[in-house]
Amino acid sequence: MAPDSRRLALYPGSFDPFTYGHLDIVKSAVNLFDQLEITVAINSEKQGLLSVGERCEIIRETVADLPSVVVVPFEGLLVNHARRRGASALVRGLRQVSDFDYEFRMAFANRKLAPEIETVLLLTSEEHAFTSSSIVRDVLRWGGDISHFVPPTVARALEKHRSGK
Ligand code: COA
Repeated sequence: MAPDSRRLALYPGSFDPFTYGHLDIVKSAVNLFDQLEITVAINSEKQGLLSVGERCEIIRETVADLPSVVVVPFEGLLVNHARRRGASALVRGLRQVSDFDYEFRMAFANRKLAPEIETVLLLTSEEHAFTSSSIVRDVLRWGGDISHFVPPTVARALEKHRSGK
């Protein structure tokens, strides 16, 4: 296959932190695309727990066994970045019906800006349908067990972060 015919998809999000629900989406997307970029976005409207650099490092460790996945930090307009990278699709996850409205609006806005880039919505497993990064941040803050929600690599990094090591 010629290198330029490989299909690249971006999976953007703030991933603060990366959860099992996100990992579900990554595992589904790698079966659909030749290459997947996890695009770690700076969202100025959200108060961050981890720096973007830390998030990228943790996600890289978590997906180290998936050779078609790269992790890239990003700030700016997503479709501009997608065009620069030559991506053909944007992948987003749906956990519940309530995600749909937001995803739908974002997909239409991105389509207006870049009609050639498709948004592909993938379902999270039922098991992780109620997981969100803010729940993980809250459980962590109050000393609860985060291992139900995040892969061991993420849990270790967050425990280290909590203890300030
Ligand atoms: N499993 C678990 N949680 C999930 C999930 C999944 N599969 N999918 C989404 N979530 C959760 C996240 O954990 C996050 O939880 P939180 O709000 O509790 O922290 C929440 O859903 C939102 O997720 P996220 O994917 O991180 O969305 P976001 O709104 O932070 O990021 C961007 C959206 C970054 C992709 C979007 O703002 C963007 O593209 N920004 C760039 C600027 C731009 O181009 N704007 C125009 C877009 S129309």
